[in-house]
Amino acid sequence: MLSKYHWWRDAVIYQVYVRSFLDSTGDGIGDLAGVRAGLPYLKKLGVDGIWLSPFYPSPQHDHGYDVADYRDVDPVFGDLDEFDQLMAAARRLGIKVLLDIVPNHCSSEHPWFREALDSPPGSPARARFHFAAGRGPDGSEPPNNWHAMFGGPAWTRVADGQWYLHMFTPEQPDWNWRNPEIADEFERTLRFWLDRGVDGFRIDVAAGLFKHPDLPDSDDPEADARTRDSVNPLAWNQPEVHDVWRRWRAICEEYGDRDGRERLLVGEVSVPTAREHALYVRPDELHQAFFFDLLGAPWDADAFRKVIAEAMQDIAGTGSTVTWVLNNHDQVRTVTRYGEPATEGSGLGAARARAAALLMLALPGAAYIYQGEELGLPEVVDLPDDVLTDPIFRRTGSRARIRDGCRVPLPWSGQASPFGFTSGAEGAKPWLPQPEYFAEYATDRALADTRSFWHLYRDGLQLRKSLPQLGEGPLEWLDSPPGVLAFTRGDGLVCAVNFGTANAPTPVPGTPLLSSGPCPPGVLPGATAAWWLNDL
Ligand code: NOJ
Repeated sequence: MLSKYHWWRDAVIYQVYVRSFLDSTGDGIGDLAGVRAGLPYLKKLGVDGIWLSPFYPSPQHDHGYDVADYRDVDPVFGDLDEFDQLMAAARRLGIKVLLDIVPNHCSSEHPWFREALDSPPGSPARARFHFAAGRGPDGSEPPNNWHAMFGGPAWTRVADGQWYLHMFTPEQPDWNWRNPEIADEFERTLRFWLDRGVDGFRIDVAAGLFKHPDLPDSDDPEADARTRDSVNPLAWNQPEVHDVWRRWRAICEEYGDRDGRERLLVGEVSVPTAREHALYVRPDELHQAFFFDLLGAPWDADAFRKVIAEAMQDIAGTGSTVTWVLNNHDQVRTVTRYGEPATEGSGLGAARARAAALLMLALPGAAYIYQGEELGLPEVVDLPDDVLTDPIFRRTGSRARIRDGCRVPLPWSGQASPFGFTSGAEGAKPWLPQPEYFAEYATDRALADTRSFWHLYRDGLQLRKSLPQLGEGPLEWLDSPPGVLAFTRGDGLVCAVNFGTANAPTPVPGTPLLSSGPCPPGVLPGATAAWWLNDL
């Protein structure tokens, strides 16, 4: 039987972007054996689990989010035997393992899509995807006006004149979830990995899967499909998707009932409001869904307070847990995002990122940390065009939204690239070039320096484990001067964040338990957060 304690409700999970974590073979690409080698480092940091970005066989048009085989390991990353060894090592260390599952679309190299291409219009093989006739006298216009998320139309024409739908790149055809074969096939995939011992899944595009049954034109096809508020309401967030999450939850419960290990489903849910978000985390659906509003908020006390209050009311208020996140493999890293051009080099972005980390770790609910966040890595903003791999760059020609800069391989040690990332022969080159300044962020330096980001995260995680006030529980706002947020987490635990640049008075007397920067007595400096344990 499952215990009453739901470990995931306040878990801290570390996102491992496998190709950039640690390379054990010397080909410049991180792999599963590298992840296994890095587990003691993660144990020391104190996370509860890891989420592995997709490592399945894939032509890598979108770094594994184009899956050609859902039940194997791409040779670039290892093999199933290596996966089993990684699972065993993680189990020994008490680190839970989540896989990234991609149910909205597959790769154009997936055998079912190849079969569809080789089959005639109207065939069962085509019915697994969205194939349709084009418009216009000769069918040369797409079936509707939808835009793909990464640029261009959402439809591509095949040799016999039909078109297929892909909400991302043409190499990522969308599954037709109205065909029951798809749900059955994904159930087989879930069971395959659950039988190998995984603790759950991060679900890609979890508000996707179903499209409006008539695939009608959108009223606003030009809308930027990547901003949360303008997601195409005909292509995402259809009511039928909730049935899928109920079925997946039931599968997880079945495994949990059998062995007492509660499995976790965390969805990448981009929907316009916290209320709609809450529908995905009802008790019989996903356990968690990333609440991206915190990540999307500008460095501003009122903006942060608004998104936190909304999440507490509309998500936590319904009995589910809020899943906080500040960074991931799709976003500009916080250190850079919170820096202002005018203050570049002043360390303000880093100070704010440290403060934001303490804030996130003080909020009720679960939190996800993206690899390198614990080192304070900045975004690499000056990668040359010829090394960029993000399909967004290829499809839009724009560097504005590219994601390579947060995916540069981690620095582990040493003074020069590859900074211990690759254990290969001399001269082995990481798949994206690491800037020289990465030397300052290498894990060995971070571990040796008690003022490093790493120590802040480690100390924060330790306190979360030892203090009952942190993790789940109430949050109450305290009065605070403009530009400062302060709240209690029950029984004397106070967190305050100064979003401004000038000093502010501390909300309570005494020395903080932990602070993101130096705090003279009674003073909360600008761009600083602190925790106190006080008798209120
Ligand atoms: C969200 C993933 O985080 C992103 O990296 C990917 O490109 C898209 N989904 C498409 O799978």
